[in-house]
Amino acid sequence: MLRRCLAGGLALVYPADEGAYSEEGERSVWLMRLRDAALTDELLREIPKAELHIHIEGSLEPQMMFEIAARNGVRLRYGSVREVREAYDFADLQTFLDLYYEGTRVLLHERDFYELTFAYLQKATSQGVRHAEIFFDPQAHTDRGVAFETAITGIHRALLDGQRRLGVSSHLILCFLRHLSADEAAETMRRALPYKGQIVGVGLDSSEVGHPPEGFKAVFEEAARHGFHRVAHAGEEGPPEYIRQALDELGAERIDHGVRCVEDPGLVRRLRDEQVPLTVCPLSNVRLRVFPSVEEHPVKRMLGEGLCVTVNSDDPAYFGGYVADNYCAVRDGLGFAREDFRAVAENSFRASFLGEGEKKELLEVLASYFET
Ligand code: HPA
Ligand code: ZN
Repeated sequence: MLRRCLAGGLALVYPADEGAYSEEGERSVWLMRLRDAALTDELLREIPKAELHIHIEGSLEPQMMFEIAARNGVRLRYGSVREVREAYDFADLQTFLDLYYEGTRVLLHERDFYELTFAYLQKATSQGVRHAEIFFDPQAHTDRGVAFETAITGIHRALLDGQRRLGVSSHLILCFLRHLSADEAAETMRRALPYKGQIVGVGLDSSEVGHPPEGFKAVFEEAARHGFHRVAHAGEEGPPEYIRQALDELGAERIDHGVRCVEDPGLVRRLRDEQVPLTVCPLSNVRLRVFPSVEEHPVKRMLGEGLCVTVNSDDPAYFGGYVADNYCAVRDGLGFAREDFRAVAENSFRASFLGEGEKKELLEVLASYFET
């Protein structure tokens, strides 16, 4: 069912070598921009969409970081919001993660997790998000002495309020930190079981290189036995082989990032044939120097090759934009056209863990948006 993703037909309207990849290069991009002059920021914000790759801890805006730190008596390394923003000049994933974990230190009480999550939902709904599947990193909190219960209760209460007050549906995905051991992941799984009804799936995140998916096979099997969906970060900084492992060893139903698949044509064929959803985050990849610029990002080529691509924000407070800002970036940098946006938005609903009825409803809303 999950593999029954958008068949790539829409994407093929724009062949792989068009735009940034055609021989005429710049001229085609320029023409494409002309053709899509009607794709304003406002229009892209209004496209009904799902966000499938967002770390809630990565939505902690510096302003909120300071407010919560002051309230909780936590001393930050930075003196001002401006100083924090200046530190957001990352060399790679690890330099980002060092700051990301530093930021989580302010989150101590249920109220902090609630405010963080509700603020994300407000921002996301202002950018057209109708459904969000949100990662959280319990070990980033339990390792600091904050109870699992505190984090999940605050987050879950905000998700309920998001549905009630903002009309946005959501699911929560528990991520295991791959720089920690498989035993610690298994312990986290055990702690999660009393909250099973509040968690739709498990994922794998944090420092990728040197921490291959296969090390987490047993805990993913355990998660599957409990009926959790499974996703994994793979092929962000790590090699294409990690994407294969995530599929074959962990049973991942979606791959988070997955952009390094482009180095391996056989893997691209497999991902296309099986329509494995890829939750791509263009601004993140540029900020973490996976690619030098949006112009050189392969997401348009991936879509053109029939891959089930979605566009997401990852850690929006750190990477310069929420989901619609990523839509704007691929419009400006890669000449994404109307049908490309329709394809990624359609993919986002199809690749979600919503029920078939809910997907159908949201796909109808999306279709009517594009047909009016
Ligand atoms: N990659 C891996 N782990 C993460 C990320 C990311 O982009 N963001 C938060 N944890
Ligand atoms: Zn991520």
